[in-house]
Amino acid sequence: MWGVATASHQIEGGNTNNWSVFEPRSKSQQLSGEACDHWNRRSEDIELIHNLGVSHYRFSIEWSRLVPEPGVWDADAAQWYSDLVDELLAKGLQPMATLHHFTQPVWWEERGGFEREENIQDWVDFSTRMFALLSDRVEWWCTINEPAVFTTMGYVLGEFPPGVRSFKRARNVALNMMRAHARCYQSLKAMDRGKHCQIGLVKNINLFDPYRRWNPVHWGQALLLNGMFNTCWLKGIQTGRFKPPSALRSQKVEGLKGSSDFIGVNYYTHLLATPFMPTKVEIDPLIRPWEQRTDFRYPMYAEGLRRALDMVKGLNLPIIVTECGVADDDDDMRPEHVRRHLHITAEAIADGLDVRGFYHWSLMDNFEWAEGYEQRFGLYHVDFSTQKRTLKNGGKQFADIAKAHRTPQVVIMAGGLGTRLGEMTERKPKSLIEVNGQPILTHILDWARKQGCLNALVLTGHLGEQFDGFTHPGMAVSFCREPSPLGTGGALWNARHLLEERFLLLWGDDLHPIQYRPLVERHEQSGAPLTMTVTQKHSAVNLHHHDGVLQNYDKAKPTKEFNGYEAGTSVVEKSAVLAHGKEGVWSWEETIYPALGGKAAVHLDDTTFWDMGTPERLALLEEFLNKTSL
Ligand code: BGC
Repeated sequence: MWGVATASHQIEGGNTNNWSVFEPRSKSQQLSGEACDHWNRRSEDIELIHNLGVSHYRFSIEWSRLVPEPGVWDADAAQWYSDLVDELLAKGLQPMATLHHFTQPVWWEERGGFEREENIQDWVDFSTRMFALLSDRVEWWCTINEPAVFTTMGYVLGEFPPGVRSFKRARNVALNMMRAHARCYQSLKAMDRGKHCQIGLVKNINLFDPYRRWNPVHWGQALLLNGMFNTCWLKGIQTGRFKPPSALRSQKVEGLKGSSDFIGVNYYTHLLATPFMPTKVEIDPLIRPWEQRTDFRYPMYAEGLRRALDMVKGLNLPIIVTECGVADDDDDMRPEHVRRHLHITAEAIADGLDVRGFYHWSLMDNFEWAEGYEQRFGLYHVDFSTQKRTLKNGGKQFADIAKAHRTPQVVIMAGGLGTRLGEMTERKPKSLIEVNGQPILTHILDWARKQGCLNALVLTGHLGEQFDGFTHPGMAVSFCREPSPLGTGGALWNARHLLEERFLLLWGDDLHPIQYRPLVERHEQSGAPLTMTVTQKHSAVNLHHHDGVLQNYDKAKPTKEFNGYEAGTSVVEKSAVLAHGKEGVWSWEETIYPALGGKAAVHLDDTTFWDMGTPERLALLEEFLNKTSL
């Protein structure tokens, strides 16, 4: 997942909640006011996300809008979020929703918020309602964003509402947040689509290091803070218990054990510990002499992201970097910050850590809580007097990297009728024939999805109405119909305005469960207009390849040099379609492959492809799917 993240109160504007009440008393005393006016600029902002070339968007749902008074449900606000989701999906962007990101309704805060266990159910009720509304379209859910930050800032440092400084109250809030997370997770999981959705906690991993490495007192302090801030939550999910040093005594929390399908990691920095650390944010934190301060005064410390990822790996859950970014007013650190943190993430993946995604914080400059508008975290600059958004260099850097590394769009030729399948496909496209209880197209998309494809374009042929109502949860699927049968080449030409610059091309009656990543990498290295997958284990041959390059392709007349068979999955540059395509009826493989002799790259992979050309082969595919779970 390549993503960007925001939170409701920081961007929407016009909110009334615990924060808007607290703002006059906050450190900066700035009011969130109209913030980025995102509530009125939703579509424009979605376009900004789309332009970054990312695949995912993490946002939070503002509880105070949905339930402004006890017992009141604002249907218009609910509709707004539902429309947000639809608009994202229509742009091929997958939503990730957060149910609590620091804000809560005023009436609930007045009742004591997370200080009272009996209040938890109100938030769980709100969460289940939103889940019922959106879980048919939103697969990724975060319960609580950074409970330890909420607790520390609100109840120890007094920088966030309610502005309290009491360890005792903080302890109680932490315990109730654990209960709330656990109850929310269990309630959502028990709902209709619970099993299909991924629900997890978002944890800020703040690293604590001894200021003087030779000083055991500094070590002790660092370990204590790490225990209170980080381990407490990670161990909580692992063991189901709230433990010292955060708790006074170890205590079981119902439903907490295993209550996360993934772990969200928000990573910003490390803090150097001494027993005399400032407990006010105004005082500069200590840094190492070689470190560079961000505008927030804490240092840029990219290596720490790896330590944060290593810290959560013991949970054995998929890891998602749900936030990572930098406050940098003049954008002179951001490009480097982006590069370093992505580099560290890539290394972690290469070393086997199960990191599934990286969300940059934040899409655009926004209301940075107690700091107000001075701390600018955006990939887009926002001029708060005109609401004009402008892409920063750091934003361009992130977008360039994301675009270059995303799994390409998948394009499926799904129109063909099967002449050899008899009556079954006289009027039904082969891709809609059911195998093992589902159309083969669904199996193909399942596999593509697993390989990281989130965008599919289905070329439906001229019987396009038969695809009406076809969806594939978790993927943005669009369709392109033909006025009359155009052949495989004509179908691509007909859809050329919907093709991305580079796409994966698959056949709609063929299941070819290969790993896409090596194929895409091979294509990137080759610089070829097209890279095809070739198997050398098929009973027939239809091409000659040498040194990784296609020499000659002939479907009808193999020569004795022929040494491979085109297995069905290729990576294509749109420019190849434009260069060789034409109006009318024509065959892709019979036109393009011969034309690209000496140019197209070959990716060798002997994984069996399962086509369903004849009743016998269809039966084999059925048997394969019966035995294998993709
Ligand atoms: C929070 C964001 C905040 C960011 C930058 C994170 O801890 O989740 O809301 O803007 O840090 O300080």
